[in-house]
Amino acid sequence: MIISASILSADFSRLGEEIEFINQSKADWTHIDIMDGVFVPNISFGFPVIESIKHLAKKPLDVHLMVVDPGKFIQQVKALGAETMCVHYEACTHLHRTIQQIKENGMKAAVALTPHTPVSLLEEIITDLDMVLLMSVNPGFGGQKFIPSTFNKIKKLKRLIIEHNCSTLIEIDGGVNHETAPLLKEAGADVLVAGNFVFHSADPFQSIEFLKKL
Ligand code: DX5
Ligand code: ZN
Repeated sequence: MIISASILSADFSRLGEEIEFINQSKADWTHIDIMDGVFVPNISFGFPVIESIKHLAKKPLDVHLMVVDPGKFIQQVKALGAETMCVHYEACTHLHRTIQQIKENGMKAAVALTPHTPVSLLEEIITDLDMVLLMSVNPGFGGQKFIPSTFNKIKKLKRLIIEHNCSTLIEIDGGVNHETAPLLKEAGADVLVAGNFVFHSADPFQSIEFLKKL
């Protein structure tokens, strides 16, 4: 299981130390949630903040843009040194073009679906995607309750990936914890994003180890 630790739940007054914690942990990736207050009803942090910590992060950056028209920010995400750029299906008018441009800029391309968006809408583009992120809460906030219909979406997405003979990863974002994580693995998830479960736990190192050992 690939673990992507979400800094949305980190203590921003000690952001450098929190990045250092991720470096020292068994997490595979650092998950960066950028929100614009338009696509989602919250604002997290923007490029200047991530610019200031990018040199500290040793784990690949998994950048999740919850913004309208994310294609406008490809150069800025590239400048962060991101390994993966994830855009929302619901935020892109010309998703195919945006995905090609992300790849032309040397990044892995991922598409996120909010809980109400069916996976069947990815049928024409699945072979172009390195990863699909299924939101298992409504995007915008950390620490929300997991939406159980996600399990069925994972199964449908897995079927779509197998049918098209591609190796697209399935990433789950929202409400990952000690109860949901084992079930997500069983359902076919490849990557788990964890924010609250890691940063608000008594032993963050152990929480990541728990997820890694699934
Ligand atoms: C929510 C973000 C998530 C968030 C998950 O919109 O996309 O990445 O950090 O937080 P938890 O793990 O606390 O549900
Ligand atoms: Zn996210």
